[in-house]
Amino acid sequence: MRTHGRKNGFVTMGQEARLLKWLPRIGLPKGRRLADAGIPDDAPVVMEIGFGNGDFLVYLAKQNPDWTLVGVEIYLPGVAKAVGRLEDAGVIERCRITQLPAQYVLTHQVAAGQLDGIYINHPDPWPKPRHHKRRIVQKDFAALMVSRLKPGGFIKLASDIEALAEWMREILDATPGLTNVAGGGGYVAREQNRPLTKFEQRGIDAGRESYFLHYVREESDV
Ligand SMILES: C[S@@+](CC[C@H](N)C(=O)[O-])C[C@H]1O[C@@H](n2cnc3c(N)ncnc32)[C@H](O)[C@@H]1O
Repeated sequence: MRTHGRKNGFVTMGQEARLLKWLPRIGLPKGRRLADAGIPDDAPVVMEIGFGNGDFLVYLAKQNPDWTLVGVEIYLPGVAKAVGRLEDAGVIERCRITQLPAQYVLTHQVAAGQLDGIYINHPDPWPKPRHHKRRIVQKDFAALMVSRLKPGGFIKLASDIEALAEWMREILDATPGLTNVAGGGGYVAREQNRPLTKFEQRGIDAGRESYFLHYVREESDV
């Protein structure tokens, strides 16, 4: 399984101490399935893929006190920042965090129909056509996400790159078992209370607007 993007980088000693404290409790290392991660049976389970510095994960945890959040991020300094922010916000025990690629986590650690929702905010655009295969939303990945959602579960995505938003919309509109809440070919409005993520802010600073997609898994079998 090949993934692209930076994985390692500098972590302060303080961050390292927090990682060593929390990852044995809330980490999802290879070999540990989400089903064995001590999540209460009745808790909605919602995943954020590519959580960056973790600010949106903190927002989701605070807004939804009954949810368990599963954060997936391949960049170690991002994981380190998120662990600190989640601990400071007092929500870390309702989170499960992994540095493994989302493709691996969904394939090997998450069971069919286990997730209530998936967020992907501002995934890497990989603008050069020869690198489009590196984009995270691909036909097979879309089908994998759908298979891991409960019927009625959601996928919500955002991008400040119009060409990438169109790419994701075309793939997801064509994925069996998904309904585009905005209607085929449409985007939804920005949710009012959403915080700006680092990359949404970066888009604004560069004069770009963001595009938002919302899909629901249909009730029938996929
Ligand atoms: C452009 S950043 C966006 C970060 C954040 N969501 C935001 O909106 O500011 C994309 C993030 O996705 C992560 N990422 C890329 N490929 C990934 C993968 N296969 N699994 C999990 N995370 C991934 C990157 O490390 C990076 O932090």
